[in-house]
Amino acid sequence: MPTTKPETIEALFLEKRKFPPPAGFQKIAHVKDESIYEKAKANPEAFWESFAKELDWIKPWQKTLEWNPPYAKWFVGGKLNVSANCVDRWAKSAHRNKAAIIWEGEPGDQRTLTYWDLYREVNKFANVLKRLGVKKGDRVAIYLPLIPEAAISMLACARIGAVHSVVFGGFSAEALSDRINDAQAKVLITADGGYRRGGLLPLKHDADYAIKETPSIEHVVIVKRGDFPLRVKEGRDHWWHRLMQDAESFCEPEPMDSEDMLFTLYTSGTTGKPKGIIHTTGGYLTGVYATTKWVFDLQPEDVYWCTADVGWITGHSYMVYGPLANGATVVMYEGSPDWPDKDRFWRIIEKYGVTIFYTAPTAIRTFMKWGKEWPAKCNLSSLRLLGTVGEPINPEAWVWYHEEIGKCKCPVVDTWWQTETGMILITPLPGVTTLKPGSATKPFPGIEAKVLNEAGEEVGVGGGYLALTKPWPAMLRGIYGDPERYEKQYWSKWPKIYFTGDGAKRDEEGYLWLLGRVDDVMNVSGHRISTMEVESALVDHSAVAESAVVSRAHDIKGEAVVAFVTVREGVKSDPKLTEQLKEHVAKKIGSLARPDDIIFSADLPKTRSGKIMRRLLKDIANGKVLGDTTTLADPDVVKHLQKTYEE
Ligand code: WTA
Repeated sequence: MPTTKPETIEALFLEKRKFPPPAGFQKIAHVKDESIYEKAKANPEAFWESFAKELDWIKPWQKTLEWNPPYAKWFVGGKLNVSANCVDRWAKSAHRNKAAIIWEGEPGDQRTLTYWDLYREVNKFANVLKRLGVKKGDRVAIYLPLIPEAAISMLACARIGAVHSVVFGGFSAEALSDRINDAQAKVLITADGGYRRGGLLPLKHDADYAIKETPSIEHVVIVKRGDFPLRVKEGRDHWWHRLMQDAESFCEPEPMDSEDMLFTLYTSGTTGKPKGIIHTTGGYLTGVYATTKWVFDLQPEDVYWCTADVGWITGHSYMVYGPLANGATVVMYEGSPDWPDKDRFWRIIEKYGVTIFYTAPTAIRTFMKWGKEWPAKCNLSSLRLLGTVGEPINPEAWVWYHEEIGKCKCPVVDTWWQTETGMILITPLPGVTTLKPGSATKPFPGIEAKVLNEAGEEVGVGGGYLALTKPWPAMLRGIYGDPERYEKQYWSKWPKIYFTGDGAKRDEEGYLWLLGRVDDVMNVSGHRISTMEVESALVDHSAVAESAVVSRAHDIKGEAVVAFVTVREGVKSDPKLTEQLKEHVAKKIGSLARPDDIIFSADLPKTRSGKIMRRLLKDIANGKVLGDTTTLADPDVVKHLQKTYEE
């Protein structure tokens, strides 16, 4: 059972502090009245329907929810198009000339697309895709830097009913080809490169390696981002700008069934193979539309900036679909927060007058380390709301964020959710909720989240497993090509209940405190990495006989990757090999999975039946006193390892 202890007395003190909504904020907030929780609870379907009704439907739904656990259908029989809701609706209204996307490249170049501009680009690119033979239901892989073409590509796919699969630009060629093959994507959209910390991310170069192994890819579209050298294969590779030159300016949006697939997004689970999470159309859009509006309290004049990359679910739900469905102005920044200097984010906020800022705890801890003098140099007075996502936020970081960035006047919404949940599920409502630093507070209205013990009984006050006991509109509909895994992974711990894989604690006032993963998933800088995936990358190296991967606590990244490795007979385990192995993992998965520590050991602690005891390894990596080791086949192994690790 997961447990939590505040690290310091100071943290304990901070956890007990409370922050009611600022009066000025509350006055204009969408939600001011707590009674909405009761109202939504009494009739969740009617509650979700009220948001669905704010969207444009081509054909109304006949039934709000069909729930055959673990399979849900929302807004059954309804037809709509996501791109028409995110773009056409605003391009054909008084919002036509409003900025939809304000983009800044890392070198300082800028582009602003109004809703009309976005409408034009999406329509044209939808026609380009059609001309390349993409049809409704086909899969399209997107491997781009954070440039407007990423959003345009996603929306163009949605317009014609193609299913997009965005792969984060930091993933390796091999990770890209695995994802393309799993989804059998027909077209790949990439760029010559992208900028990161002044350097180049050679995307097309990596994509060339990937598509050697992906027979399903018929065409590659390349966005010209810079002047990066690359090979263009006649007939297969096409420049985005050339294709757009000849494209027709209007493409009829495809009427999509509410339950038609919108996208798949790969995420790490508890096995070596990433899984393609399936999201569909009507429920997903309703869920992200509703939560963006209420959690960020989006108002017409807001300038909203979510710093996530489009390659993650946060980039899908809260940079593209949620905000655009609300007709918001979205800021997008391509590069690193410390380029050319450590005040880049604060300069962007000042320059564009950002009012809502949504980022990850790992970034906040990094800013804390860099020092408050960086934000202090900029005028951040436009900010009115701050958000965090991706991992538990420690109370110290919460309070720093509130004081140094929000100047004590902005509510901080700590939002808990997952790739699978599609939308934010546990979060404050900023005009209603009294905040406690470190707590994601309460389930969004209409959501039922409980803390359960192993037997599936509710824990009154205390720690347990976080579970979702009612379906919600943006929930995943399955795992691409693997329904069995869907049932086993999420629905087998307790009948008809979704198991999140997270531990949580409930306090006396019913607030939820997230405690991190309780399964074999690590959370490194807010990125999900499976221990098994790193283990299989390691044993793929010819020097490695066996490996066990665990995480240890890390001040900035939340968790760091520690790999215990047994080498093959005759192999020398020296610092050179350490570097080679780290590089090998980066090459196989991406540099986000590069182990921080590699510990060589002649043996790994195993039970008598031969199972590696990861829990013990985790204790060693975290410098904890070890518990009972009597079940070990060879207790000396642990003593030896502990000594090696301490050295
Ligand atoms: C963790 C990211 C604590 C959690 C949207 C979850 C959080 C995993 C929070 C999903 C939060 C996300 N507080 N933990 N506010 N938000 N997590 O799929 O462990 O990349 O299961 O989705 O991140 O990661 P994913």
